[in-house]
Amino acid sequence: MTNNIVFSGIQPTGDMHIGNYFGAVVNYVRLQNTGAYRTIYCVVDLHAMTTPYDPATLRRNTEQMFIDLLACGLDPDKSIVFVQSMVPEHTELAWIFGCVCSYGDLTRQTQFKEKSEQLEGKQDAFISAGLFTYPVLQAADILLYHAANVPVGQDQKQHLELSRSIANRFNTQFGEYFPEPEMLATETPKILSLSEPTKKMSKSLGPKSYVGLFEDEKTVRSKVRSAVTDAGEASTPMGEGARNLLGLLRACGKHEQAAAFEEEYASGNRRYAPLKEAVADALVELTSDLRARRAEIGADRERVRRLMREGAEKARAIARATMKDVRRLTGLPGHE
Ligand code: TRP
Repeated sequence: MTNNIVFSGIQPTGDMHIGNYFGAVVNYVRLQNTGAYRTIYCVVDLHAMTTPYDPATLRRNTEQMFIDLLACGLDPDKSIVFVQSMVPEHTELAWIFGCVCSYGDLTRQTQFKEKSEQLEGKQDAFISAGLFTYPVLQAADILLYHAANVPVGQDQKQHLELSRSIANRFNTQFGEYFPEPEMLATETPKILSLSEPTKKMSKSLGPKSYVGLFEDEKTVRSKVRSAVTDAGEASTPMGEGARNLLGLLRACGKHEQAAAFEEEYASGNRRYAPLKEAVADALVELTSDLRARRAEIGADRERVRRLMREGAEKARAIARATMKDVRRLTGLPGHE
């Protein structure tokens, strides 16, 4: 760790699910509350424009994601929480980084390959240049704040490597300036899809695959009830689905209950109905708390918009100072 600045970005994808929550947001809150870091969290609306989208939906989702992060425990007095597009320095630095990032490195990004292939299968397929340069903007997000620590999942490993190579090339060309950001890998439970428990929980696998973080009790219970487990025979190894449910129970903090089920299953009894019941109870407890907090925060839109402006102002103060240095180093005017 070369400094104690933490930065992470989250896409405004609409309603968060428990996979995002346990896999990322719980960790954001924990890092904030340790007090050991300077934590900066960003809703990356510009990244959400790289694939076809609807403007009204994007606007709604961005504000909702900001509210939801606060509902989950991000605290504007402890962290800088803001919306990417409200700090125009992100796109400014992205241009400059586009000129120190090699075309070859971008063509090797597997996320671009995967996403562009998915899009190609669709009617009126359109693959934007923005989708291609997505990781350059991500490097700008991180390095504008000199963040050396980036809490993200394994799927972002290659993007972070690219951020490091961008920082490196910049430093070589213009003088030592940016830290090389590292992945802040922390133990986060990997939550699998309820319907296809060999895959990561994701909305794209359909409504039965995930539990929304703000879903009502009835929906939560019915989704957990229909989760795939295994054949329930003690002679076969416990299925991924059943293990995923135990993991969920632990993620909710119900360690003793999980241990008790595990013991029972080891001794031969593989009835999953009580496990599902326990998981549903724990998730209902979590989601009803979060739903209440979300409603409370969302009820005062003036305050939400003020917090968005204040967050952006705090971020901008740092971003402006960085851009001043960058202009000076790269031979651009406007840094005096
Ligand atoms: N690409 C990240 C994701 O899909 C989101 C992101 C954008 C991000 N900018 C970032 C993550 C900067 C960490 C740091 O999850």
